[in-house]
Amino acid sequence: MAYLEVEGVSKSYGPIKALRDVSFSVNRGEYLCILGPTGAGKTTLLKVIAGLIKPDKGRILIDEEDVTFLPPELRAAAYMPQGYALFPHMRVWENIAYGTLIRGLPLERVWASIKMVGLAHKAYSYPHELSGGQQQRVALARVVSSGSKILLLDEPLSALDLLLNIELRYELHRYAKSMGLTVLHVTHNSEEALSIADRVLILRKGKVQQIGRPDEVYAKPRNLFVARFLGEITVVEGVVRASIDNRSVVEAKGLGRLVVNGSVNKGSHVVIAYRPEDLVLLSSPSEPYNVFRGKVIDVEFEGLRVRIHVMLSKGLESVIDQWFVHEIPFKKGETVYVYLPPEKALIFEYPREGISQALALE
Ligand SMILES: Nc1ncnc2c1ncn2[C@@H]1O[C@H](COP(=O)(O)OP(=O)(O)O)[C@@H](O)[C@H]1O
Ligand SMILES: [Mg+2]
Repeated sequence: MAYLEVEGVSKSYGPIKALRDVSFSVNRGEYLCILGPTGAGKTTLLKVIAGLIKPDKGRILIDEEDVTFLPPELRAAAYMPQGYALFPHMRVWENIAYGTLIRGLPLERVWASIKMVGLAHKAYSYPHELSGGQQQRVALARVVSSGSKILLLDEPLSALDLLLNIELRYELHRYAKSMGLTVLHVTHNSEEALSIADRVLILRKGKVQQIGRPDEVYAKPRNLFVARFLGEITVVEGVVRASIDNRSVVEAKGLGRLVVNGSVNKGSHVVIAYRPEDLVLLSSPSEPYNVFRGKVIDVEFEGLRVRIHVMLSKGLESVIDQWFVHEIPFKKGETVYVYLPPEKALIFEYPREGISQALALE
């Protein structure tokens, strides 16, 4: 049995269904990122696991024990709130000790946790004398010193600027691993989740969309929302005209005939998506099919890579990534050809809610 089990948890606030029949399990020592847009139910989920909110339905099991009705202090899970509010009038060591002392834990543990996060030299400073990253570490030391084996971190890095976010996310991951902690790390930043998680759980409107390894969910998103939430995509709508031997021909809106790998029922309404790194820019139509002429409308130089936006037809924009090698290969206004490789197509049933809703990132 897994270390943490969430079984069929639902929670409503009046008419708002914050969690709908959420089930998943987490192994001991695992680093799980819970990813979803604002309002998805991420905070509610962590609070239910921490015991700060009672679910309307469902159970929480930790180490095979049903803790659903246990108070927070009797669970092996510590919740670190979003914004990690440190007490401004308390020094670093007092901020950490506060959480620890009310649990009746020894003071040595406070010092051990201050040292672990590398802030022994700041123990007598006040929060305003620390950088954002240092404050984040104090908050982390506070949950760690509680001695809990499960850390529930609510957007622990979202207040930090990008470089610090990147530095601390790896530090956090390494630290959790070295301590053998089980972590549920909530974020709305897909890149952050994909880069450090052992597994990612994608939550939307209170429902689990998918759970899996970062490379799995990125390569095989279960629906259009997941595909879009994990990164930029080019989206083509169409109807399947023929399908044989794991190959299908789609009548694509704004493009015409498009060949994709995968067997789909003839006549079905589909959405085909491509990742920017999967599309190929050509200066001439040198592939036998799936090549479409377009105009470069934007070139974003990002250092390692160049992201090129190409208008293929009215309302159909494609996004293509290329490695940057010496010079930017295509210029704004230029006519180019875009190749949509059949084996790279992500095929989805047309979403009942409509394409723009599914792509809305909320
Ligand atoms: N105390 C509350 N009372 C009423 N609605 C709430 C309360 N807390 C959260 N909600 C609503 O529940 C939904 C999920 O909220 P939350 O768990 O905070 O999502 P997230 O952390 O993913 O942004 C949202 O629609 C939010 O407005
Ligand atoms: Mg939240």
